[in-house]
Amino acid sequence: MKPLNKLRLGVNIDHVATVRNARGGAYPDPLRAAKLAQEAGADGITAHLREDRRHISDADIDGLMDVLSIPLNFEMAATQEMQQIALRHKPHAVCIVPEKREERTTEGGLEVAREENKLAHFIAPLREAGCRVSIFIAADQKQIDAAARIGAQVIELHTGAYCDAHAEGRFEARDAELVSLRDMSAYANSLGLEVHAGHGLTYDTVQPIAAFPEVMELNIGHFIIGEAIFRGLTPTIHEMRRLMDEARA
Ligand code: PXP
Repeated sequence: MKPLNKLRLGVNIDHVATVRNARGGAYPDPLRAAKLAQEAGADGITAHLREDRRHISDADIDGLMDVLSIPLNFEMAATQEMQQIALRHKPHAVCIVPEKREERTTEGGLEVAREENKLAHFIAPLREAGCRVSIFIAADQKQIDAAARIGAQVIELHTGAYCDAHAEGRFEARDAELVSLRDMSAYANSLGLEVHAGHGLTYDTVQPIAAFPEVMELNIGHFIIGEAIFRGLTPTIHEMRRLMDEARA
């Protein structure tokens, strides 16, 4: 049997900044977490510079660009301000996410199909600058088709509905979400899109997603940072890596 490609783990450090910002000082430092994650075997670091700067700050992005030797996946809304910041830094990857001020986290995928023209123009300069452009979407064929048409190289499938259904014990709904995620991973791959996934993943939910052969990268944040309180960041990342590799084997 053909061996599966190694699945990459992107560690999202946003919530180290959430804790720091609760007191308004410099501790805990997201850059220190990023360096530790890098040493622990993370394949990339993800950080979302929100318009309201509720966690990651502009200075954090400057610092990450300076210190990391693994790729930075810069998550951002499709705004002019964020585009300028991305074009200044030229991170390895840019992931376009929907953003609402009142939401607690990125609640749904981007409506690519409805804003196809606008998004096509928005991502073109980012691609020209050499950034790998990813679009965060639901497992919906219409959105995948639109992502391919606008010239995105990558789609990241939103796993939040799957993880919520699991956490709430709605197992039929969870399994239906998994089927959509599996089918849409295969469909996106058939169009030549690289497939990533993330949102809400935990030790309990990561393996079925990691087992999809088309998925090349998982971006995981909240659970890893939360679990690190109890286990430490390095062992938490090692265990996530182990579960991913086990599912992939
Ligand atoms: N991928 C994307 C595009 C996201 O917006 C987020 C949340 O910032 C994640 C992955 C990580 O989600 P979580 O923090 O729930 O693991």
